[in-house]
Amino acid sequence: MNKISTKLAAAFTIAVFIMEGLLMLYLHDNIIDSRIQEEFQSILSRGNSHRDVLEERFSNTTLHHIALMESKTETEVVITDKTHHVIISSKKLTGGMRELISESPNSFPREGRVIEANWKDVNYLATVTSFKNGADEGYVYMFKSASPLRNLIRKLNGHFLLAGIMSLIILACIHFLLSKMLTRPLINMKEATEELSKGHFGVKLPELGKDELGDLSTSIQTLANDLETIQQDRTEFLATISHELRTPLTYVLGYANVALRDEISETERKEYLTIIKEESKTIVTLIENLFELAKIDENNFSIHQEEIPSSPYFRKIINKITPAFKSRGMGLVLSVPDEFSFHADPIRLEQIIMNLLDNSLKYSKPGSTATVIARQHVQEKLDLTITDQGIGIPADELSQVFNRLYRIEKSRSREFGGSGLGLSIVKELVEAHGGQISIESEPNKGTSINIIL
Ligand SMILES: Nc1ncnc2c1ncn2[C@@H]1O[C@H](COP(=O)(O)OP(=O)(O)OP(=O)(O)O)[C@@H](O)[C@H]1O
Ligand SMILES: [Mg+2]
Repeated sequence: MNKISTKLAAAFTIAVFIMEGLLMLYLHDNIIDSRIQEEFQSILSRGNSHRDVLEERFSNTTLHHIALMESKTETEVVITDKTHHVIISSKKLTGGMRELISESPNSFPREGRVIEANWKDVNYLATVTSFKNGADEGYVYMFKSASPLRNLIRKLNGHFLLAGIMSLIILACIHFLLSKMLTRPLINMKEATEELSKGHFGVKLPELGKDELGDLSTSIQTLANDLETIQQDRTEFLATISHELRTPLTYVLGYANVALRDEISETERKEYLTIIKEESKTIVTLIENLFELAKIDENNFSIHQEEIPSSPYFRKIINKITPAFKSRGMGLVLSVPDEFSFHADPIRLEQIIMNLLDNSLKYSKPGSTATVIARQHVQEKLDLTITDQGIGIPADELSQVFNRLYRIEKSRSREFGGSGLGLSIVKELVEAHGGQISIESEPNKGTSINIIL
């Protein structure tokens, strides 16, 4: 009973039921009422026409004529004098009739009045009209059996009951169809979300068209597909990470075992320990980078944008990294054609530049030069390009360098201790600024990365 489908259908059914009930009640009462009115009107007008005849000519013949006429119809007539004394009647009077006559009022409008209207319980409906013809005064009573009216109303009630039952059956069918068919999609969606919460992302919902239900269904389907992709990515990512960690750790373990041997010389031991130290550094950097990415993923790191004046800011960063370039025999040039200021998080932007310059440094030959060009893009926005004359990236791999743990020729970058996380961190940071990053590269010519913040 707490199914949404049942509730929806029940609400609809109850509403229609109440509406229909009220309508039928109204119709029923109106029809019966007008039927009864018609009945009384017909007896009254009959009485009135007898009155007219009597007022025109009051004689025994007329009286007999009226009584004879009424004895052939469904109605009965009783004519009395002023003191309710019966002069003539179309039928032998019953006790009930006498009672009505003796109790009837003496004054009423000329068109007469109803003196017995209780059609449910009495035998006769009755009306009275008065007549006056000179000295002859009296009353014309009309009686009509109530049972034909009762029968008619009973029949009418029967019809209404039948109509009521029919509409209840139809309503029940609609209720059933509503709860089954209209709300089927809702149930499907509920089941789909339950599957999702259990971690089964391969759900398939049917196409439902363009209404609100359809939109909801499409959203749930999209959510399911996204979750499936995320799950696959995560599994893949974890597999790569464990692989990445296992390689340096195998080195560490292997060299530690060798270094522990008694028979090796002190110089050899030092050499092995140095390798262990280097590999451990790689592991630490890798884990730090992964942690950085995890923070970005969880959205619990924030960008604190500040207004930064271009030249002093870039100059400071370039000065910091120039020694590393010098020691590799490489040049580093900064160009800020026009002085301007822009909005960015200074610490995060430094992280971005350091990562990119670290790549230029690692993947270039001694003697080449890296260039940093900072321009104003539009108001308060930075257009930064870092270009090197390094080994470049093959065109078919360009699209993948921003992926986590992606490296080109793993063995080649292994000697530089690269883990393949630098560019993915850069990309996340740029996107956290609401900026864009693009890369161009040609093998053996160099690489150029452009950032708009
Ligand atoms: N300027 C560049 N010139 C040539 N190749 C590059 C350049 N920048 C990146 N690459 C290639 O793209 C790959 C991904 O770069 P990324 O910075 O993400 O990782 P990494 O430098 O290997 O490791 P990390 O930056 O995490 O220490 C690198 O392995 C490298 O082969
Ligand atoms: Mg890098």
